[in-house]
Amino acid sequence: MLLSKKQPSSATQWTEKVKYQKHREPYFKFSLNNPQFRYAAFLFVFLSLWFLLQVFWFPPTRATRHQTTAKSSPGKCGGDVSVYVYDLPAEFNFGLLHDCSHLNVYTNMCPHVANNGLGRPLENMDLGSSESSPWFATHQFIAEMIFHARVENHPCRTWDPATANLFYVPFYGGLHVSSKFREQNHTVRDALAVRLVDYLREQPPWRKNNGRDHFIALGRTSWDFMRTDNGPDFGANSLLNSPFVKNMSVLTVERNPWKGSNQHGIPYPSYFHPSTSGQMLTWQRMVRRSNRPHLFSFIGAPRKGVGKAAIRDEMIKQCMESTRCKLLKCENGNPKCYNPSEILKVMRESQFCLQAPGDSFTRRSTFDAILSGCIPVFFSRHTAYTQYAWFLPEEATEYSVYMEEQGDESKIIEEVLMKIPKEEVERMRATVIDMIPRITYAHPNASNSDLGFQDAVDVALQGLARHVRNIIL
Ligand SMILES: *[C@@H]1O[C@H](CO)[C@@H](O)[C@H](O)[C@H]1NC(C)=O
Ligand SMILES: *[C@@H]1O[C@H](CO)[C@@H](O)[C@H](O)[C@H]1NC(C)=O
Ligand SMILES: *[C@@H]1O[C@H](CO)[C@@H](O)[C@H](O)[C@H]1NC(C)=O
Repeated sequence: MLLSKKQPSSATQWTEKVKYQKHREPYFKFSLNNPQFRYAAFLFVFLSLWFLLQVFWFPPTRATRHQTTAKSSPGKCGGDVSVYVYDLPAEFNFGLLHDCSHLNVYTNMCPHVANNGLGRPLENMDLGSSESSPWFATHQFIAEMIFHARVENHPCRTWDPATANLFYVPFYGGLHVSSKFREQNHTVRDALAVRLVDYLREQPPWRKNNGRDHFIALGRTSWDFMRTDNGPDFGANSLLNSPFVKNMSVLTVERNPWKGSNQHGIPYPSYFHPSTSGQMLTWQRMVRRSNRPHLFSFIGAPRKGVGKAAIRDEMIKQCMESTRCKLLKCENGNPKCYNPSEILKVMRESQFCLQAPGDSFTRRSTFDAILSGCIPVFFSRHTAYTQYAWFLPEEATEYSVYMEEQGDESKIIEEVLMKIPKEEVERMRATVIDMIPRITYAHPNASNSDLGFQDAVDVALQGLARHVRNIIL
């Protein structure tokens, strides 16, 4: 880093010298007969050439920079992972995309499924990096597509089931379930999940271990796949209730903390999908240097109803009453709440980011906050601690603040945060910024020699491989 910064400046010094020399050319011509001047001129030209050679023959230290920051050897598969990807009939994944305008009963998903699920590139992100910008308008429930694209390109992928220790079933279950939320007939709503299970049971690799080395990755919460017979019908199917699927590992952005022993939390995708370690390091440096005038911030909408709504309304009230809080209230379709650069700006200018539970325990916002170097403040253990064990430090106090939701009614968030010593805040923020690579979904087309860090997919595959080794003896 230091070297590549110094070299351009010495190069500019050198070009200034050249200009200076050109101006003095007549003087040199006149005095070339003078041996002392001849010697000095020779020395000058020699040194200049030598200097030139240093600068241009040995170009800036890009290659070595990648090598020194890389944690795994580039292009090689680490962590004893060998993953076989099922070539499923198209109705289970790509086939669903043809009707992308009807994939979600609330929104047109076509822009969101573009670019292998990264979504449309973000224009006007004043966040550096020009040609291949790592910024995309990524939908919060699209992790399954990005995961698929990334595993297809992964150095740990194998085409030979006999050598695999993991079997990936690339079902776009989240996209499918959201297209059937309003389907009243449960048989019809569950039909594709039933067909998937029927398909898998016939596969020879499945039979070998009853599917216990198989996994799926879902971009929506487990609640969408665990319909209960007695509760209200939110539109879920019953994929994860199937005894066959219970033998698999299920990656999901929100696991069921009580009934999800085979479920493992994976990060919600944020907007940053770098292809190189350089892009990652640039962003981490920017976030580290960011001015944070707001002690804390809250981005979110008030919720109608009791329970979860109460804590949100309390937060909005406290934030409005505090001069140290920045509030981005997402009412009446406030466009700022859908603008990634606006969201990241608020978070980059805040020291703490409040993570109130929303419709479920988890929030994409937790990962936007980490990406912005903003220390998350949790009000439920199930917003992160019981969810993302593979991705977060074991010790919650190293990177987050916890406030009991049902705790002291009179507790003032501002007072609690003000009491944390400055050095403690800085230590936590450093930990948060170091966590960014692991919770980031790298660009699926990143060549592994450029990607000098372990991203969310690397971490998930290694976690799965360890898990499967433990359950299959
Ligand atoms: C990745 O590369 C393939 C093949 O060049 C291309 O079709 C695809 O659109 C690329 N994906 C992204 C997200 O850029
Ligand atoms: C639900 O759909 C299935 C298959 O189309 C059909 O056989 C069944 O009668 C339907 N059930 C109801 C209650 O409409
Ligand atoms: C799940 O795996 C166990 C252990 O291999 C096996 O006994 C059981 O039959 C499997 N369940 C199903 C539904 O295949």
